[in-house]
Amino acid sequence: MLFDLQNVTNENVYKLLVATIGPRPVAWVTTQDVDGTVNCAPFSFFNAMSGNPPVVAFGIGGRGPGDVKDTGGNIRRTGQFVVNLCSYALAEPMNITAIDFPKGVDELKEAGLTTAPSTHVKVPRIAEAPVAMECERLVIVDVGIDRAVVLGKVVAFHIQDDCVLDKDRCYIDTPKLDLIGRLHGGGWYSRVTDRFELPRISVEEWAKRKAAKAAE
Ligand SMILES: Cc1cc2nc3c(=O)[nH]c(=O)nc-3n(C[C@H](O)[C@H](O)[C@H](O)COP(=O)(O)O)c2cc1C
Repeated sequence: MLFDLQNVTNENVYKLLVATIGPRPVAWVTTQDVDGTVNCAPFSFFNAMSGNPPVVAFGIGGRGPGDVKDTGGNIRRTGQFVVNLCSYALAEPMNITAIDFPKGVDELKEAGLTTAPSTHVKVPRIAEAPVAMECERLVIVDVGIDRAVVLGKVVAFHIQDDCVLDKDRCYIDTPKLDLIGRLHGGGWYSRVTDRFELPRISVEEWAKRKAAKAAE
């Protein structure tokens, strides 16, 4: 069925996007205002965009024109943020940090979470999060009057000790991180418990397979 977006309301376009693009990893972003106030909110329009340099991106939708979400305003002013990742065990506290509290309310305190210092940026990370990426703003792309995409360069990674299999080779126990992804609708998520392996195929291997099939 064709959905020509010229004839679809903004609300319904959002529904099409979130119903089909998923699971989406959750960037649980901490930022700091110039006065030092720490802010925290989850963003599932998020992913890694480049390996070298390491670049992540997330999208901030508006409640109206301008930087009405605190996260975007803070990053514009300070140029720094931390992307924490959310495990299944932290899903409920993460959801609490998404409540539209008035400015100044400490979302982390409301959710019973604590912070730990970062090493390269002033913004603290969420101590309980199994992964945290310290980021420096590369660019903010305004994609509409009330939407922006933030691109950040990752300058440091924190990974929960018991999820690091081999520090020198950077082998991480991904299943043990138990990270969640956001799905359709307002409240659906998935866990990474239904995995399967599919190794990449080289040109030589592909030629071998075709030759074997032709010889059958
Ligand atoms: C799992 C989850 C994912 C979310 N993803 C986004 C998103 O990608 N973009 C967005 O603008 N808001 C998203 N939200 C809503 C924001 O977290 C929410 O508006 C938050 O209050 C913004 O906080 P701030 O004003 O402190 O930046 C999401 C909420 C949840 C629970």
